[in-house]
Amino acid sequence: MRNIMKNKQPVRVGIVGFGTVGSGTARILLENAGLLEQRLGFPIVLKKIADLDIKRDRGFKVPAGVLTTNAADVTDNPDIDIAVELIGGLKMAKSIMLRAIQNGKSVVTANKALLAEQGTEIFEAASKKGVSIGFEASVGGGIPIIKALGEGLVANRINAVYGIVNGTSNYILTKMTDEGRPFQEVLAEAQKLGYAEADPTLDVGGGDSAHKLTILASIAFGIPLSYPKIHVEGITGITPLDIAYASELGYKIKLLAIAKSEDGVVELRVHPTMLPKEALISRVDGVMNAIYVNAKETGDTLYYGRGAGDVPTGSAVVSDIAGIARGLVCGASPSPGLIQPAGRQKARIRDMGDVRSLYYFRFTALDRPGVLSRISGVLGENNISIASVIQKGRSKVEAVPLVILTHMAREKDVRKALKKIDSLRSVASGSLLIRVEGNE
Ligand code: HSE
Repeated sequence: MRNIMKNKQPVRVGIVGFGTVGSGTARILLENAGLLEQRLGFPIVLKKIADLDIKRDRGFKVPAGVLTTNAADVTDNPDIDIAVELIGGLKMAKSIMLRAIQNGKSVVTANKALLAEQGTEIFEAASKKGVSIGFEASVGGGIPIIKALGEGLVANRINAVYGIVNGTSNYILTKMTDEGRPFQEVLAEAQKLGYAEADPTLDVGGGDSAHKLTILASIAFGIPLSYPKIHVEGITGITPLDIAYASELGYKIKLLAIAKSEDGVVELRVHPTMLPKEALISRVDGVMNAIYVNAKETGDTLYYGRGAGDVPTGSAVVSDIAGIARGLVCGASPSPGLIQPAGRQKARIRDMGDVRSLYYFRFTALDRPGVLSRISGVLGENNISIASVIQKGRSKVEAVPLVILTHMAREKDVRKALKKIDSLRSVASGSLLIRVEGNE
């Protein structure tokens, strides 16, 4: 290893991917170079930025000789110590990361999808080669949640990590709530304004939140990256009607990513959740993210901030670069990062059917004598106890919404009951459930 400190050499960085986060990262490295050197005691130099499009103006000046269209100018370059992968996607990003690792470089990435789905292979490769993987930017954008969990709370036994980790969905739900507008309309507007992707599936379908939850849970509970075991529901089925009922009952609807550990069993789920209006997390609106950590030793801590964007996410990337650079300068032997493959405990993941929650149900039922008793009968047969009922509309011929809040119930029982209720002649099919967080 180069003796960077003794020779007063800078730590040298190369970026692959000059898109939104790549630009934010480069901008910080260039514009805050003096500040970083003052804080670290040594300079960090941006040697190369590789992208297919190096002509577009990113709004700041890049020094001559830095831009290249060849990723190998980063991954295979002996004059680069840290390679930053910011192209996103799976296949090419993975081969770039593995190539850089093979060439003895530590890697920094924001790629949650790749880490959640194939991260084990990457962490193992880094571990074998004795280099680090930094991934602060993969969850919560500019919020330093990875370091909070892996370093700040390293002495804690974590009970739960949960929060709003997808800004697009939160923006859409906030607009739907504030303006009473339907999902499709708000999504189309968000796409027009550039707040939602042309293909929004990962964001609104919950997949992006599940990727982030996978990473958080792995650090929090020391378990493997268990992405396939996460129960995932997005926000596409949420209607203004449910938002209005939730509000009347004292709740707001948020897309929550939830990881809990109890007696060695881990619960991993992403779904729309009704939260008491007065809870702090209910006030996290627009594109903002917020993540709670509940730990045995420290109790609750809450992390709030911008979960996306060029410079906020770039700030997280640069924090990893700085951390790895400090290690290089001290001559510390690098660790593969906060997810160390060798230390993972085998996880027992709770089956979604065994999860217990409070529930909101919305049925569409004919307003006839005996209908409510039939529905409540099915709920009772399945050990589901009713906490409250709202039925407002009145129509002799048309079905009207009937809303029920339950006490604590088991998901398996709920699914069985809803199936039976949907088959009743007086109830239209397609009953809706939303899980409720809060006290009984
Ligand atoms: N697509 C993500 C979001 C941002 O909407 O929060 C990047 O993680």
